[in-house]
Amino acid sequence: MEGVIDAHTRDLLTRRPGFDWTVTEFVRVVDARLPPRVFYRHCPELGTAPPSTPAGTPVYLQLLGSDPEALAANARQALRLGARGVDLNFGCPAKLVNRHDGGASLLRDPGRVRAVVAAVHEAVGEAIPVTAKIRLGFADRRLALACGRAAQAGGATHLVVHGRTRNEGYRPPAHWEWIGRIRRDLSIPVIANGDIWTLEDYWKARTLSGCRDVMLGRGALADPWLASRIRHWQLTGGRLPETPWAARAEILHEFAALQHSTLPGRIVTSLIKQWLNHMRQRDAEAARRFARVKRLTDLDALLEGLRADTARRAPSPVAEADAP
Ligand SMILES: Cc1cc2nc3c(=O)[nH]c(=O)nc-3n(C[C@H](O)[C@H](O)[C@H](O)COP(=O)(O)O)c2cc1C
Repeated sequence: MEGVIDAHTRDLLTRRPGFDWTVTEFVRVVDARLPPRVFYRHCPELGTAPPSTPAGTPVYLQLLGSDPEALAANARQALRLGARGVDLNFGCPAKLVNRHDGGASLLRDPGRVRAVVAAVHEAVGEAIPVTAKIRLGFADRRLALACGRAAQAGGATHLVVHGRTRNEGYRPPAHWEWIGRIRRDLSIPVIANGDIWTLEDYWKARTLSGCRDVMLGRGALADPWLASRIRHWQLTGGRLPETPWAARAEILHEFAALQHSTLPGRIVTSLIKQWLNHMRQRDAEAARRFARVKRLTDLDALLEGLRADTARRAPSPVAEADAP
C-alpha cells in the first residue's frame, strides 16, 4: 500500500505466520525503463534471492501504468534484478494517477487490461508469476466480468479483486458477492479483497465470494495478527485471543526502531501516528493512545506515550456498577 506498507512494515507483519506473499508499493511506469535504484527503493528485498521478507515470505513487485511496452520493459528489468513475481495495479483510484491513465482508469476498457497483462506476461515468460489487481469497475460494475476475463486471457496467474468500483473509493460495503461472480467465471485463482478487518469478516467474505484466499490491506495494519487469526482458524478451527495493547505497543516500538535507522525522528513520529491511526479504527486502547499522543512531535515522548506500563487502567465493570 502506497505510503503505508514499506519493507519494514512487510518485515514486521510477516514475522507472524499467515501471509503467503506480500506486494510492494507500486512502481509508477510512464514511458521509460526505470533505473535499478527505483526498483531497489520500492523493493529492498530484491537484495535477497529470491526476494523475501526476513521471515521468508515472498515479496512481489507491483507495477502501475498503462503503456504495455513500457510496462513490459520494466517487468523485464524487474526480472533481471531478481523479482520473483510481478503484480499489476488496475485498482488505484487516485485522481492524479487516473488522469494520467493509470490504475483503475484502465478498467473502462478490458482490451487495455488484457494488452497490459499480455505484454508483461510475454516479457517475463513463464519465469515468474504475473498477478493482477482489479476493482469491480471504474464508475459501475458493467465491465467487472470482462475485466476479470481480460486479465486471465492476458496470462495472469492470479487475480485479486477489490470488491468496489473506483468511484466507490473505500466506502463500505465491499461487494464480496460480486467477487464470487468473477471467481465463478474464471479458471485462475481469485483472491477476495476489501473490508476484511476481523476473522468474522473473513468468514463472510469467504462465504459470499467463495474465495478461500483473501488479500488484507488496512485490516492487517489495524490488527497485525489478523493474518495469523485467519491461518490459525484455517488450520485448527480455533480462535486466537484478542491482541492486548502491550503487543500492539511492542510492534510500534519495533517499527520505530527500524524506521529510525534511516529516517529522522520527526518523520518516524508521523509514520507511527499513521499506523496507530489504523489501529485505533478497531481497538479502544489504541484510540485512547492516539488521542493522547496525536499532537506530540518528539519521537521519545511519543514512544513513552505508547508504553504498555503507562496505560491508564480501564475502569472495571464491577467498580463502575458499585459507584454511586
Ligand atoms: C493508503 C492506501 C494505499 C494503497 N496503496 C495501494 C497500492 O500501492 N497498490 C494496490 O494495489 N493497492 C493499494 N491500496 C488498496 C489496498 O491494497 C486495498 O485494495 C484496499 O485498501 C481495500 O482493502 P482493505 O479494505 O483490506 O484495505 C491502497 C489503499 C490505501 C488505503
